Amino acid sequence: MSTTAIRGTFLDFIDDPWKHVGSEQDAARFHADGLLVIEDGIIVDFGAYAEIAPKHAGVEITEIRDRIILPGFIDGHIHLAQTRVLGAYGEQLLPWLQKWVFPEEHKYADRAYAEEGTKHFFDNLLASGTTTAQTFTTGNLTCNEVFFEEATRRNMRMIGGLTGIDRHVPDYFANTPEQFYDDSKTLIEKWHGTGRNLYAITPRFGYGASNELFAACQKLKQEYPELWINTHISENPAEIHGVLALHDDCHDYLGVYEKFGLVGPKFTGGHGVWLSNDEFRRFSDSGAAVAFCPSSNLYLGSGLFRLGRATDPEHRVLLSFGTDMGGGNRFSLLNTLEDAYKVGMLNNTILDGSIVPSEMDLAESERNKLSPMRAFYSLTKGGAESLYIDDLVGNFDIGKEADFVALDYTAGPPATAWHQSLVTESAGEVLTLDEVSDLLFGIMMVSDERAVDETWVMGELAYKKA
Ligand code: GUN
Ligand code: ZN
Repeated sequence: MSTTAIRGTFLDFIDDPWKHVGSEQDAARFHADGLLVIEDGIIVDFGAYAEIAPKHAGVEITEIRDRIILPGFIDGHIHLAQTRVLGAYGEQLLPWLQKWVFPEEHKYADRAYAEEGTKHFFDNLLASGTTTAQTFTTGNLTCNEVFFEEATRRNMRMIGGLTGIDRHVPDYFANTPEQFYDDSKTLIEKWHGTGRNLYAITPRFGYGASNELFAACQKLKQEYPELWINTHISENPAEIHGVLALHDDCHDYLGVYEKFGLVGPKFTGGHGVWLSNDEFRRFSDSGAAVAFCPSSNLYLGSGLFRLGRATDPEHRVLLSFGTDMGGGNRFSLLNTLEDAYKVGMLNNTILDGSIVPSEMDLAESERNKLSPMRAFYSLTKGGAESLYIDDLVGNFDIGKEADFVALDYTAGPPATAWHQSLVTESAGEVLTLDEVSDLLFGIMMVSDERAVDETWVMGELAYKKA
């Protein structure tokens, strides 16, 4: 048994800041001088250093100074095999898939190509402070084997699965429903619960699935009810029209997934830009989650996700935030927060443009604003709850896995931003929660993965910035 401890400034969340509008800090737990005690990768004690240290005399302590330590970031929606299409020019979703994505993902059928891309993918996750990601792969067995092998080697808490498509796709890249079912089953039996891997049944999207492919997903979920389901929903108007044309018995996009019995706890629909109020309500009632991917929604011109509506306390939708790399043009969830803030502000411009905003509009407009507490909750505890892994990761509760990130609030672009004066003023001082909150907002709006100094996985240092 190995016991170690980390001393530093810790922030995590014990509640949902959207429930504390105007006093979001009430959802946070802050220790300016804290101690995290870890045994074999699991948190066994946590609190103020002065209180915790005397209980663990003799334990080896690593001090992390001048950093803010947060639970490892959770990316609710990312694509393994798009690592090499970051920054592809000029298309919206459907032509972008055809022109850039399918040809590149197809190359992952080759083991050597997949191994190299997969190593790059995981290196970038860790350099971004991301310790968990719900990941789309491809429909190819080898690609999926490589993904799970590498995740196991890195000992990371990952969710993923064979990503099936058999409609609106070139023949060379299409699954058959039978092969999708058989290969998914092979992977489930081998990898679900092996190491820290969790398996997601993954129909790529409604526009790319035949009824037979959906039926295969439904059968797998019936056989393995404990599994996750990961897909896309209501991302782009052309996609949505295409889906509804295929399913004239469904009123809306969510109805298609409902028809095949896929919607409920552990279901995540990526994007949800164009979801109706009624669809949001059904997400909320069923315990299903949306992955909000603002960088992608801006980059591919998909639209503005209604964050304030999704977080309506009457029908609160479980939310993770996702990079959607390479639909999103960054690996770093700090950039995702930046774009999420801007999407919220743009939504408020539209609301404020109405002639007499109603009470509801004002409350929704307040919820559209991504305060630093809401932002970092979403990358940690909020993401974990939406993925139903909050018993494992997401904050520093005793019994959880010790994945965390140390942010350097002095790193980033040259000192042009107002928050840099705070850094100078507070140099060498014990930080307050107000100061940490301001620094975190500065990091998410002005910095990027340069702020990620160290990333720890199961109590072990997995990444250190050069
Ligand atoms: N819908 C189906 N496949 C994809 C994909 O790879 N990226 C995005 N953003 N949307 C999708
Ligand atoms: Zn995606």
